[in-house]
Amino acid sequence: MIKADVLLGLQWGDEGKGKIVDVLTPKYDIIARFQGGPNAGHTLEFNGIKHVLHTIPSGIFHPTALNVVGNGVVIDPVIFKKEIDALTAMGVDVKKKLVISKRAHLILPTHRLIDAASEAAKGKDKIGSTLKGIGPTYMDKTGRNGLRVGDVEGVNFKDKYKALVEKHKQILEFHNYSYNLADLEPAFFEAIEELKKLTFIDSEHFINDAIKKGQKILAEGAQGSLLDIDFGSYPFVTSSNTICAGACNGLGIAPNRIGNVIGIFKAYCTRVGSGPFPTELDNEVGEKMRQVGREFGATTGRPRRCGWLDIPALKYAIAINGVTELMMMKADILSDFDTLQVCTHYLHKGEKIDYLPYSIEPSDVTPVYEELKGWNVDLTKMTSKTSLPQELTDYINYIEKLVEVPISIVSIGPDRTQTIFMS
Ligand code: GDP
Ligand code: IMO
Ligand code: MG
Repeated sequence: MIKADVLLGLQWGDEGKGKIVDVLTPKYDIIARFQGGPNAGHTLEFNGIKHVLHTIPSGIFHPTALNVVGNGVVIDPVIFKKEIDALTAMGVDVKKKLVISKRAHLILPTHRLIDAASEAAKGKDKIGSTLKGIGPTYMDKTGRNGLRVGDVEGVNFKDKYKALVEKHKQILEFHNYSYNLADLEPAFFEAIEELKKLTFIDSEHFINDAIKKGQKILAEGAQGSLLDIDFGSYPFVTSSNTICAGACNGLGIAPNRIGNVIGIFKAYCTRVGSGPFPTELDNEVGEKMRQVGREFGATTGRPRRCGWLDIPALKYAIAINGVTELMMMKADILSDFDTLQVCTHYLHKGEKIDYLPYSIEPSDVTPVYEELKGWNVDLTKMTSKTSLPQELTDYINYIEKLVEVPISIVSIGPDRTQTIFMS
């Protein structure tokens, strides 16, 4: 039986998932997002165009693939409308190529306000949220208060909305947070009307029927494994299961219907927002990585923190996701470095360990590095595996040996074409 493949990030997000989904889409009939929401920013580049998607799957630019927003996703109708408008202006027939689960939860303007109020209340301990209302929306989902896409078709939608907003007002009052909801509501209700023009589906039936028909499905993850609500560096995480199991929950795919699990990682590491980052380079080397790698958030524009590749973290992510195939991104950025460091172990309570312990705070783990020779060669115009410099091949082999999973793609630039297939 044909199985659905899952593609996800193995680090702290922004690994380059959007680029690779776009590259792989011609092999698939359906591209489906399963969690997260507009906190994601997935960048695609082709024919000199750069485009950032937030809620819409990264298969949207291909002529045939159908794109599904699954039940596990949270949708901000206002941002969604903006995304659709931008794509329509580029000539993409979004309405024909996009369907949405009725079970996906809606982000209300008050969810965004609560996100901001909660972060402000945390002060220096803030999560560094994208402030898109993700946490409060998932809280309402698990608290069984949320509004779903299917609700917008009901005659009592406005009443349900008002009831939830009343609850939210109490929270905002508790935080002593000042706001003007009247400024935000017209855009919300206008966007709800636009949302209604799209096709709503029961994604669990839709996906399972597609599997039965032999259609090829790629589930597109958002964020990264180290931001997972259960397995990430809690509380500095997002509010959904970003790991492979999230594709089961977020689309209604049974675990035994999952096929390849494609793990995307950068040749180094980045993190945006607060929280521990063992291999962070809070110095001029990290600054150079940020500048050369243009490491600024696709959603918020915030500078991303940068550091060397972290093997214990990568092994952890590979294990909890059951990764069958790796893809290494942004190899071209390391061309500017004469020597490269790779964290192979941590020192934890005086012992050398190669796994991720409960806490990865600096007080609990110290990274242990091995040094490798850099390649100092411009990779960005290379077209085949055979042209890659020996030092890069050594870097790839070294990682494969440590993590015991093959690297099938090496990415050497943001464009669709800057992709080296290793087999
Ligand atoms: P995503 O959230 O995982 O889809 O990743 P983002 O789009 O947030 O961030 C990845 C950034 O790196 C984007 O600006 C991409 O255009 C860019 N990118 C992806 N792959 C490569 C690569 O191999 N080399 C370079 N230089 N940039 C890349
Ligand atoms: P993509 O899909 C990188 C981070 C935020 C913050 C934490 C919680 O583009 O890889 P949230 O808004 O979810 O409450 O923020 O998670 N974060 C991301 N970091 N890439 C993302 O998505 C992210 N989505 C959330 O910076 O630290
Ligand atoms: Mg991103």
